[in-house]
Amino acid sequence: MAGYFITGTDTDVGKTVVTSLLLSHFKNAGGSVFPYKPIQSGAILDDGKLQAPDVQMYQRVLPQLHTEKACTYLLTKASSPHLAAREENVTFDIDGILKNTANLEAQHDLVLVEGAGGVVVPIQDDYCMIDLMNDLKLPVILVGRAGLGTINHTVLSVMALKSAYIPIEGIILNATQTRDESIEKDNIEVIEQLTGIPVLGIIPRLENLDEALQNPQHFQSIFQQLNQTKEDMMR
Ligand SMILES: Nc1ncnc2c1ncn2[C@@H]1O[C@H](COP(=O)(O)OP(=O)(O)O)[C@@H](O)[C@H]1O
Ligand SMILES: [Mg+2]
Repeated sequence: MAGYFITGTDTDVGKTVVTSLLLSHFKNAGGSVFPYKPIQSGAILDDGKLQAPDVQMYQRVLPQLHTEKACTYLLTKASSPHLAAREENVTFDIDGILKNTANLEAQHDLVLVEGAGGVVVPIQDDYCMIDLMNDLKLPVILVGRAGLGTINHTVLSVMALKSAYIPIEGIILNATQTRDESIEKDNIEVIEQLTGIPVLGIIPRLENLDEALQNPQHFQSIFQQLNQTKEDMMR
């Protein structure tokens, strides 16, 4: 049984893109890999049915994905889960989410659980994403922006994770905007120095996402550093 929890320094930072690239990497390695987005806010009506946009991106790698298993709670308001749930009269069954994850882990070589927003995003009452990470007991992959502003956000997120004794597998920086090489290079050095956690690499700005998702070998140098490699998956 193996898995990772994919969190980020913020919303829109690239968690879903990184999760999808990881799916592609592990699929290419021959393993059975399954994505799980327990709570999706900002769900959209598509074909008369509520759909999770994050799951739709996973489907670009896994077209046969069982979408009901891949997402438990679909909320329409594009907000923090606690607010969307309150407005839509939803109560989360956290034990149910933990059980779903355990079942998926039992059925697949690797499960990738994607959080919502960042580390201290409330789910309900005083239970936050970081508490879910703690309960799931999965090592975390932290996605941050590659450019300006990321040192503060990334280091603070790592501090929060460390204070909860959550193991951090590595940090992946994602370049969604105009790039500045000297800033990116310095960000990697400073983040590693201040956190002691390896920055596995930078995902460049992807002009053609589908092409990138079909060619995981381009990101081999980043993902091969993850401990749960093909051999571990097949144990
Ligand atoms: N490396 C990248 N290159 C190009 N577009 C990206 C990249 N990373 C993310 N995006 C785009 O930015 C938006 C937010 O990314 P997403 O992965 O959905 O963030 P999150 O899951 O953290 O909210 C999406 O429209 C996505 O396609
Ligand atoms: Mg997402």
